Amino acid sequence: MTCKLLLLPGDGIGPEVMKEVEKVLAALQRLGVAKFETEKGLVGGCAYDAHGKSISESDMGLAMAADAVLFGAVGGPKWDGVPYEVRPEAGLLRLRKDLGLFANLRPAICYPALADASSLKREIVEGLDIMIVRELTGGVYFGEPKEIIDLGNGQKRGIDTQVYDTYEIERIGRVAFELARKRNNKVTSSEKRNVMKSGVLWHEVITALHKREYPDVTLEHQLADALGMQLVRWPKQFDVIVTDNLFGDMLSDVAAMLTGSLGMLPSASLGAADAQGRRKALYEPVHGSAPDIAGKGMANPIAMIGSLAMCLRYSFGLGEAADRLESAIAHALGAGLRTADIKGAADAVISTAQMGDAIVARLEKAA
Ligand code: IPM
Ligand code: MN
Repeated sequence: MTCKLLLLPGDGIGPEVMKEVEKVLAALQRLGVAKFETEKGLVGGCAYDAHGKSISESDMGLAMAADAVLFGAVGGPKWDGVPYEVRPEAGLLRLRKDLGLFANLRPAICYPALADASSLKREIVEGLDIMIVRELTGGVYFGEPKEIIDLGNGQKRGIDTQVYDTYEIERIGRVAFELARKRNNKVTSSEKRNVMKSGVLWHEVITALHKREYPDVTLEHQLADALGMQLVRWPKQFDVIVTDNLFGDMLSDVAAMLTGSLGMLPSASLGAADAQGRRKALYEPVHGSAPDIAGKGMANPIAMIGSLAMCLRYSFGLGEAADRLESAIAHALGAGLRTADIKGAADAVISTAQMGDAIVARLEKAA
């Protein structure tokens, strides 16, 4: 099988962690898992520097044509002053919107070896395995009007619009229920129906979908603020959490700290299946570009490598190779290897490249 990948390393630590993914791809190819054809493009601040836009039309074309996109990170203080329309994040948002990547899967798994790296007590997080399903192409991120208007009396007004249609809630709900069936069969849906009309509709649509198509799955509802509290109080009560774009953005950063570090969380962004069952897809670490540590070889490449594992599983049906890659990650952690973000007081620290090399070595040894 030949897998056509577009690599968009982006800014900050993006290129450093993508380099480790390229090593893993080469190893998987040597092991005969698949053949990978890769192309590279620019996104974010580096794309702005090169051609004044956060992603060029030709790179958008490559993204459309690829089987999957691997994305690093975008942004940094260097581009704080660029116009809003071409800020680095706009490139990522355009990819999500134009590729129709409405379903963002953010698994938060706490490896036993890392339970002490979390800011929460070991017994709260050890063995945690939850999946946050974040709606990614709607809500306040994209709703119109979205503007700042001058009221003419010395005041301005900033406006964002939170908007959801029935079909958007139904399709993300289906993703969550289907995933739950393959896991622990429980979905927690989250909104703010006590203050938001879009939350009232969200609750109504998810409840009806459950009754109609997924009565075998356990469904719970939690208000988004309460869910934030429950995530740090007793996270193991959750299996699959489904929520909107903005709440999902916030809650997945909270969930990241349960696993020890933001440097651990991979994600998959998927579109609707076409007639052949294929989906457009983009895989990215949940962490950002971390400009403070960029270029120092300190970044943790695990979230990026874990995103490649999700790519193998969801885009290419290579679930067994994904399992092997994930167990190579777990093995490196179990052997005590630590980048700076996950180090305990007594741990020695290794570099981005050393962590990548260790994962590759384990992958090859286990084969
Ligand atoms: C994320 C990021 C993005 C978001 C930014 C970079 C636009 O925080 O993927 O969680 O807000 O969705
Ligand atoms: Mn975020």
